[in-house]
Amino acid sequence: MAKMWAGRTDGATEQIADDFNSSIRFDSRMYRQDITGSMNHAAMLAAKGIITQADADALREGLAGILEDIDSGALAIDMTCEDIHMFVEQVLTERLGDVGKRLHTARSRNDQVALDTRLYLREQTQEILSLVKALLEAVVSKAEQYSNAIMPGYTHLQRAQPVTFGHHLMAYAMMLLRDMDRLMDCKRRMNQSPIGCCALAGTTYPIDRRYEASLMGFDGICRNSLDGVSDRDFCVELLSCLAMLMMHLSRFSEEIILWSSWEFKFVELSDAFTTGSSIMPQKKNPDMAELVRGKTGRVYGDLMALLTTLKGLPLAYNKDMQEDKEGVFDAVDTVKMCLQVFAPMVQTMEANLANMKRAAQKGFINATDLADYLVKKGLPFRSAYKISGQLVAYCIRSNTVLEELPLETYKGYSDLFDEDLYSEIDLKTCVEKRISEGGTSTASVLEQIAWVKEQLKEEKA
Ligand code: ARG
Repeated sequence: MAKMWAGRTDGATEQIADDFNSSIRFDSRMYRQDITGSMNHAAMLAAKGIITQADADALREGLAGILEDIDSGALAIDMTCEDIHMFVEQVLTERLGDVGKRLHTARSRNDQVALDTRLYLREQTQEILSLVKALLEAVVSKAEQYSNAIMPGYTHLQRAQPVTFGHHLMAYAMMLLRDMDRLMDCKRRMNQSPIGCCALAGTTYPIDRRYEASLMGFDGICRNSLDGVSDRDFCVELLSCLAMLMMHLSRFSEEIILWSSWEFKFVELSDAFTTGSSIMPQKKNPDMAELVRGKTGRVYGDLMALLTTLKGLPLAYNKDMQEDKEGVFDAVDTVKMCLQVFAPMVQTMEANLANMKRAAQKGFINATDLADYLVKKGLPFRSAYKISGQLVAYCIRSNTVLEELPLETYKGYSDLFDEDLYSEIDLKTCVEKRISEGGTSTASVLEQIAWVKEQLKEEKA
């Protein structure tokens, strides 16, 4: 087919070169943004007297018809076109004749593609924000449900100190809240209009970039035309936010996978979010969580790929930049799928309180509290630490636990020990006494929950 850019050359290229050059396979998903952008461009051109109002009206109507026909399926996108911008302009010209050819005045595909991508990703970022918010709400409501359920807290994956399941879940709530904050910040910088930068240098036509930007809800315009057409920071930033979000989901997944194993059995996932094995009848596999953990790799890959694509590019537009879309679209699709499955998986996850409690009772996780007991009785912490450690060693040798040791054994190690030590090392006490801000006591956890809920009310997301 004759190229729209035929002129200097006759536009006759090899089929294999056309296929290689074409981006319509992946940029056709931006047809709505492309058409909306063009409608607003026509409106600006008419407002500035660059085209007549009658032409602008015809263009608007023609574009609206194309949008409607693509939406309804009446118009199939021609995959032999170079890209979505060419396709829309070609159909417009077929339908309107010469008027259609006026649309591309004071515009280049370079600023057009930058515009479409920003519009598309702005919408996607908003959708992702809503999905993160839904997951965050699910996590918070689980945390509320389990605000005083005792479980072992870990460092080095060794039982360390008792915490509550609610406290543990709220750690993920904090991560997700930061993810939302980052996405909103990213959206703010994304929301600057590149249209009117034209090919690279601006234009001789008396355009009004700010007016055109305001028609599409942008907060402002890109201030340097060379930067406006070659800036893909907004894609990199979004990918980076998504990579970090996936890192959080992946850590959460890893814990859910561990907790679901027979070795832990802290949680039971709903049957609706697990799979069976084709050969082992006893299996209930946490595939959803594993896939989220696995898909984190591809989102990281999308980020690294784009950073690498951009690193050596001279100003302004280079065709390399067409490689921005597949990765960022893939990341957006992947993250949305992960969030959609993660929220109900968390919502329907049940904790096994007895197993959590039992695990907390076994690992001497109240040894710090035993030392703290002696400190409160006047011993320096290092000495108290040592006595507590010796008592743990004694328990291990005698196959018992701190709670079961008789008082006279304690007295053998320090005469500061008294009957009140038992209530002090009770797991419930260990948890409930940690009332420091951000700590694991039920009161502290409820405060964290209230704070996150407050933040969510304030967010405009
Ligand atoms: N399909 C191209 C892209 O995605 C559109 C911009 C093409 N501009 C150009 N001068 N070839 O980057």
